[in-house]
Amino acid sequence: MTAHLPLTDFIEYPQDEMLKRAQENYQQVKRRHSIRAFSDRAVPQAIIEQCILAAGTAPNGANHQPWHFVAISSPEKKAQIRQQAEALEQAFYAGRAGEEWLDALKPLGTNASKPYLEHAPWLIAVFSQKRTEEAGAQKTNYYVHESVGIATGFLIQALHHAGLATLTHTPKPMSFLSKVCGRNNDNERPYMLIIAGYPAENATVPQHALDKKRLTEICDFI
Ligand SMILES: Cc1cc2nc3c(=O)[nH]c(=O)nc-3n(C[C@H](O)[C@H](O)[C@H](O)COP(=O)(O)O)c2cc1C
Repeated sequence: MTAHLPLTDFIEYPQDEMLKRAQENYQQVKRRHSIRAFSDRAVPQAIIEQCILAAGTAPNGANHQPWHFVAISSPEKKAQIRQQAEALEQAFYAGRAGEEWLDALKPLGTNASKPYLEHAPWLIAVFSQKRTEEAGAQKTNYYVHESVGIATGFLIQALHHAGLATLTHTPKPMSFLSKVCGRNNDNERPYMLIIAGYPAENATVPQHALDKKRLTEICDFI
């Protein structure tokens, strides 16, 4: 068995303060909205680095940390991503999505045009790894989808907490991202693309997206 160390960084709060902190956190996360119009104002890399470090603290299967992040600020790379994503999205909106999916997207007002992929200062491509290479040997990863999903949630939350707006974008299929990001290997798959930056002055939020389920609809206490 490997060493265990005493837990030294847990902070206990009085319960009234705990409730206040929980309320404040809810008020804070409620202000996160997916936006689709970004300003081209620069955001320092140091901020993105801290957010990716936060994502890397996520709980994950056997602590294999089956993720890799590629933070893209290069205008050439962003232009390539926009061009390829828009080509895919045109086919998607032209019918590949199927009627039911397109109907579900109608209230969001999304379409195949993705100028924000070039306007936003940062695109963060998240990759999931079904195996990791370590010391020349392949090691299987566990609960890959769950682990990378949680890490991506941490990333979105960290970006929001830092004061940035985000969009989760999933052009389908995303395999072109492996090539653009130089992550071509059989063990790794693009998982999600997170756009981060300042909102454009004319950024809007679809009314539909503000309608969140009530506590009684999403939770039972038993
Ligand atoms: C896995 C996933 C994929 C998504 N893909 C897209 C996408 O490709 N394009 C887009 O405009 N929004 C996308 N979204 C954003 C959702 O539309 C958005 O989260 C939802 O409408 C709720 O709005 P909110 O994030 O402002 O709360 C995606 C969200 C998730 C979690």
